[in-house]
Amino acid sequence: MAEKQALNIVKMKKMKAEGVPLSMLTAYDYPSARLAEEAGVDMILVGDSLGNVVLGYDSTLPVTIDDMVYHTRAVARGAEHTFIVADLPFMTYHGSIDESLRNVRRLMQEGHAHAVKMEGGLEICGTVSTIVSAGVPVLGHIGLTPQSVNTIGGYRVQGKDARDAQRLMDEAKALEKAGAFGIVLELVTEEVAEAITRELSIPTIGIGAGRYCDGQVLVYHDVLKYASPYREKRFVKTYADVGGIIREALGEYVKDVKQRAFPAANHAFGADEGVLESLYGAAGKGARS
Ligand code: KIV
Repeated sequence: MAEKQALNIVKMKKMKAEGVPLSMLTAYDYPSARLAEEAGVDMILVGDSLGNVVLGYDSTLPVTIDDMVYHTRAVARGAEHTFIVADLPFMTYHGSIDESLRNVRRLMQEGHAHAVKMEGGLEICGTVSTIVSAGVPVLGHIGLTPQSVNTIGGYRVQGKDARDAQRLMDEAKALEKAGAFGIVLELVTEEVAEAITRELSIPTIGIGAGRYCDGQVLVYHDVLKYASPYREKRFVKTYADVGGIIREALGEYVKDVKQRAFPAANHAFGADEGVLESLYGAAGKGARS
């Protein structure tokens, strides 16, 4: 019988109060989830960055609820003891509340997520509150919200001037009031992220938001330099060149095949004695050449 997952939203709030940082990493399938869990991450995010780093799209917009359910289920199989948050993708929580709840239900019941993440500020607070009342933990996401890239006008740092800083602070407070258990701050200036973190009783999780958030999240493929389609990003720290290792190993494989160095005799299986005689009659082994 599987152990229960180590973390829950009550413990997360306590960790914030005690100044214990939260580590979050994205994962999209069984192996990435398994390795993330074995490495001891506190939370896994099945992000809709899936669209960019796994499915090869140039934004998160084409990602569907079916994609998210499929990948979340694979992550849940790989990380049975880790708290899993799944993204509600583009336009799956902006229609009727029934439709939003149906999509949330799919991520939880079919995908086995423990919580959902939603991008947006004041405009989604009503929906957040309804989803939370249904017993579903919601992680907010403000600052750079990639699903709104076309209205924001590009992937730009948020909270540079006083007006924008106030907007972000208002959004964060409104999401907390609506019942969010935490808030991702993406590409937010360090000063504003720190101020929001200080004002809220729920944890902030930063990505490109500086040193003073309660936790940090990064994209798996960025951390590992694993064929990430993103250009080098200042806020990312790369911990290994996994892409380079894989590329080199695959190149060796191709070379071995071309040079008939693979497979070698120890990779091959032998048949019973007399098989060739039975295939070719008296000519036996000689028939092979
Ligand atoms: O989709 C994602 O991976 C995210 C993180 C960048 C926070 O939303």
